[in-house]
Amino acid sequence: MFGRLLGHRVGLGAASACLGALAVSPLIPRTAESRQAPPTTGERQAPDLDLVMVNVVFRHGARAPLTENYGAHDHEWSYCDRAYEAVRTRIRGLDDTDRPVSQSDERQRKVTFAGGCRKGQLTSAGQLQALQLGSRLRERYVGRGFLPDSYDPAALEVRSTNISRTLDTVTGVLTGLYPDAEEILIETCDDRREWLYPNHRNCARLSQLISGRRRETEKMREKSAYHLGLEEKLRDALGMSPEDGHVRFVELFDVCKTVKFHSAAHHFKMSDGLLRELELVATDQMKRFVAPGDDPEMLALSIGKVLRDLLGGMRRATAEGEGEPPKMKLFSGHDTTLMPLLVALGYDLVDWPPFMSNLIFELFRSGDAHYVRIQYNGEVVRVDGSDARGMVELGDLAKKLSHLTGEVSCEAKLQAAPPVDEQAAPVSNGVE
Ligand SMILES: *[C@@H]1O[C@H](CO)[C@@H](O)[C@H](O)[C@H]1NC(C)=O
Repeated sequence: MFGRLLGHRVGLGAASACLGALAVSPLIPRTAESRQAPPTTGERQAPDLDLVMVNVVFRHGARAPLTENYGAHDHEWSYCDRAYEAVRTRIRGLDDTDRPVSQSDERQRKVTFAGGCRKGQLTSAGQLQALQLGSRLRERYVGRGFLPDSYDPAALEVRSTNISRTLDTVTGVLTGLYPDAEEILIETCDDRREWLYPNHRNCARLSQLISGRRRETEKMREKSAYHLGLEEKLRDALGMSPEDGHVRFVELFDVCKTVKFHSAAHHFKMSDGLLRELELVATDQMKRFVAPGDDPEMLALSIGKVLRDLLGGMRRATAEGEGEPPKMKLFSGHDTTLMPLLVALGYDLVDWPPFMSNLIFELFRSGDAHYVRIQYNGEVVRVDGSDARGMVELGDLAKKLSHLTGEVSCEAKLQAAPPVDEQAAPVSNGVE
């Protein structure tokens, strides 16, 4: 499959360095044991667990920054060449909807950095990450006879946000999964209607809650000696003066981590230690906005519909004789897709989900019962009520998440709340 690699387009050094780096911290572990389905904890492998369905939710691969601030233009972004020839895809709106333009995508694509990358564009390294996830999925699910040998639209459903980098990522994943396919269907959605990330644009109540969080965060920063101290260290590292205004942690982290990912150099005088400190604060802040574990209403408005998609799809797959539900569903999204999902599942989210992070939901049948095993970047997520292998009964999982999957009203509640200030919005998936 790596015959598809265009060695002359991406510096071979860069390509192998990147693959090397990925091999060190594989997003799906390579060891035969951890790839086994079902997993064992040393005891005899249960003979009667049949894999029924797999959902894979992922964030796009490495990309150029989403902001032009904080010195993003001082770096040469020459990492966006095509790394390989991808399979052909057909992109269709859900329900064959008309084709309105994706405004956030258009806005970002208009900006080109020195070196050639556009704002938010998937880089060659990001393309390779996607290809690698796809080939791991191929090994694990086509190789073991769960998925058909060649692409079958009835067996594989593909959904993506309508943003260049998520579409490019899912195309890379599909190239790894079915390198010889002629054309694969991807379904996307008008960004005004999109629900694969917290979308305050189509939900007044969410917008209101986010505004509230923004005011809280402001106050917290003013009161926190730690935050003020960190700002000062960051200003020093970047050669900024206090007149440049407050340091927006999430936005600055975006520039620093993308520079770090693609080059050996640090962004200005940012050290590893300071970058790590910045990551922890940025993640903590971002969680308040997109993955608030302390506010079920807000979390439900943020990600409830994705949870309903996942649980509904699995439930349909358990029903006998109701047509042929797909065996695999891919969801190509953002960090802001994974963060609220992880928090909803009770995962202790401390680190920002790295590029190409993925959540895999495997549904098994055992007699009359159905079990789900969830993995985040190859590690079993131990949700409440799961057994030693990480298996949780589908009904138990649905019950545990029921406070987030019911219908919640998007109508704003009466209280004087200023509308979301787009400028001050934290940079996240860049689709806000
Ligand atoms: C996706 O975005 C592209 C580019 O902006 C646009 O042409 C297309 O109509 C959009 N599709 C949907 C379903 O919104």
